[in-house]
Order: sequence, then C-alpha cells, then structure tokens
Amino acid sequence: MKEEAVLCLKDVHYHVSSDDEELSIIKGCDLSVQPGEKLSIVGRSGSGKSTLLSLMAGLELPTGGEVRLFGQALNHLDEDRRAQLRALQVGFVFQNFQLMPSMTALENVLMPLELFQVSDADDKALQALDKVGLGHRLSHRPSELSGGEQQRVALARAFVTEPKILFADEPTGNLDETTAEQVQHLLFQLNDELHTTLVLVTHDSDFARQCDRALTLHNGRLQAV
Ligand SMILES: Nc1ncnc2c1ncn2[C@@H]1O[C@H](COP(=O)(O)OP(=O)(O)OP(=O)(O)O)[C@@H](O)[C@H]1O
Ligand SMILES: [Mg+2]
Repeated sequence: MKEEAVLCLKDVHYHVSSDDEELSIIKGCDLSVQPGEKLSIVGRSGSGKSTLLSLMAGLELPTGGEVRLFGQALNHLDEDRRAQLRALQVGFVFQNFQLMPSMTALENVLMPLELFQVSDADDKALQALDKVGLGHRLSHRPSELSGGEQQRVALARAFVTEPKILFADEPTGNLDETTAEQVQHLLFQLNDELHTTLVLVTHDSDFARQCDRALTLHNGRLQAV
C-alpha cells in the first residue's frame, strides 16, 4: 500500500499584482512526494523555483489550488501554526547559507533546538557539527569560516531537529566544484541516515540526476525532465 504523501500540490497557482501588472509565476502545479523520496527541481533562472519552494513550505500561500504538508492543508492553518509546523518538521538550506553572523557555529546549530527547549540541546548540536566534520570549528563565526564550512554548519542546523522534509534551494550554488561535491555527498548522507524527504532546487544537472526523480519547472508548470 502506498504511504501517505509527505507533500501534495493540487493545481497550485501563484500570481502577484504590482501597480499595473499581474504576474503569473506558478500556473497549475500538481505533485505528490512520498516519504523519504528525493526530488529535484531544475529550471531556468526566474522560472519560479524559489517561489514554488516557499509555497511548499507554507512561507507563502497559493493564490489558487492547495498545498498539503504532512496531510495538512496549509491554507487552513494560520501563520503561527504554519511557523510551528515548519520549526518542528521542516529543514531549509539556502544558496547563501543564511547563518546568523553574530553567532558562533555552535550557537547557530543550537538555535532551532532552543526554540523548543529540547533536552540535551548542547549534545545534539555538538553531534550534528561533528557529523559534518566541524567539531573543531565550534566557536568560529560565519565570517571566520569558508563557504563550504558555512554550508556544512547550515546542514548541521537543518538536520539537528531531524526534520521530516528538507527544502534545499541551490545549496551548492555558491561553492566551487570540489566543495560542491562534498556538500552534495553530505546532504545525501544525512538525508539517508535520517530518512528525510528531500526537495532540491539546483542548476547542476548531475546533482539533480542523483535524486530519485527530477522535474523541470517551465512556464509555471512542473514537467518530467
Ligand atoms: N513577490 C514578488 N513580486 C513580484 N515578482 C516576484 C515576487 N516573487 C518572485 N517574483 C518574480 O517571479 C519570478 C520567479 O522568481 P523566483 O525567485 O521564484 O525564480 P527562480 O526560479 O528561483 O530563479 P533563480 O534560479 O534565479 O533563483 C521572477 O521573475 C521574480 O522576479
Ligand atoms: Mg531561486
């Protein structure tokens, strides 16, 4: 029997209006992502990939259609409930790392745990940093770390709460080829260990192909690659 989808999109539309223009970014996306599945989404710059991730994670609400995350229709939850759902079960990794510049590596990884007063937070954060090979960089601030190291801290922060789903938006976009490969490997390794569902946006077709399924976002719709 098929398990219930972790993420389900039904005829999702998203348009924004400015002064005199209506811009239709997402024009009818349907998708079902199974537990533990690794899905990649490619598409040219400006095709709406980051917008689609925001809709999947409930950071934005669709202007048409429905997004269900863990079986819950996100349109039916208020902003607080959506934020709570994300904090407990969703991880994010971004192209520009998005670490807190004033905090050390350890403090950055502790942050999501402290929001919920998780027991043994220190041990969990230390283990997470150890897993990404940064056990020796605990007290460094982001400006004192290389790009690859910053992204590894971001991976530790994303996985430390053991999220059910991880959204990664061009996680290797700012890294050189060798470092990108290391981060890719680490992302898949952590993903497999924790049985996390992955939705990956990337411009790197090799990276995309390593997922179970690869889709293209084109003209506001998802298509098989
Ligand atoms: N709030 C908004 N208001 C107006 N336009 C927007 C808004 N959000 C996104 N857009 C536009 O929607 C389009 C899609 O943007 P998005 O950032 O999702 O693209 P992308 O596929 O992630 O691109 P890239 O590969 O460069 O990151 C762009 O043309 C962008 O300017
Ligand atoms: Mg983008």
